[in-house]
Amino acid sequence: MTKKNNVFQLSAIKEKRALKLKEEADALSKAALVSEAIKNTPSIKQIRKEYFELSIKTLLSALKCKDDYTWGHSLRVAYLCVSVGKEMNLSPDEIYELEVSALFHDLGKIGVPDAVLKKPSRLTDEEFLEMKLHPSKSYEILQDFPIFSKMAINAKYHHERFDGRGYPEGLKGEDIPLFSRIILIADTFDAMTSTRPYRKGLPFDVAFAELREFAGTQFDPMLVEKFISSMTKEQTKGEDTFKLQVIDGDFKKDAA
Ligand SMILES: [Fe+2]
Repeated sequence: MTKKNNVFQLSAIKEKRALKLKEEADALSKAALVSEAIKNTPSIKQIRKEYFELSIKTLLSALKCKDDYTWGHSLRVAYLCVSVGKEMNLSPDEIYELEVSALFHDLGKIGVPDAVLKKPSRLTDEEFLEMKLHPSKSYEILQDFPIFSKMAINAKYHHERFDGRGYPEGLKGEDIPLFSRIILIADTFDAMTSTRPYRKGLPFDVAFAELREFAGTQFDPMLVEKFISSMTKEQTKGEDTFKLQVIDGDFKKDAA
């Protein structure tokens, strides 16, 4: 073999090796790209959660368009319920369900005429009957979404009283779903303590006394004590805002 042939063969081998290395590098970077793409692709579970939360936000946006106060009230009631849920050592899944149920409790107010919903003075008997339909309307709006079926029921019964004299069905005691009983207390507390254009909110201790006065008749007495103890702890934190799991942002505790 001549020297020239030898040099030619060596450079051919070098070229072949370089080509093989390039092919290997390409394959590696393709594999890396594929694995990166797989890593960044949301799972079905994540997609479901995303759509679930998007549906909640959409429904709450509709409520905000109808009445800004009721929207803010729903967020505060959700925060109050979550505090009680933590006080009761509920599981994270239960607390999540409670938060969404509370966010939706007054959704049916979308179906209450503005003249009744936004009336600053006392409602007539006829207007009050119209207003009393809102828990059933919350249920009607939510019932066809299978993912919201539990929340629809919790919203429907949030005006039932412990003594059976509430509405819409007059359920009594522990026949009322637990989360509906919690929502009623948080709902009443927020209504008492939040400042409206026509009146100042009550101090916490006055609202606590009111809750205790109606424990056993309007409210579940065990839950009233859990509520007061969780609110007392919240007060010591001295925070002006709260966060929710489902909706992003910092929200003011005070409605004023
Ligand atoms: Fe309500």
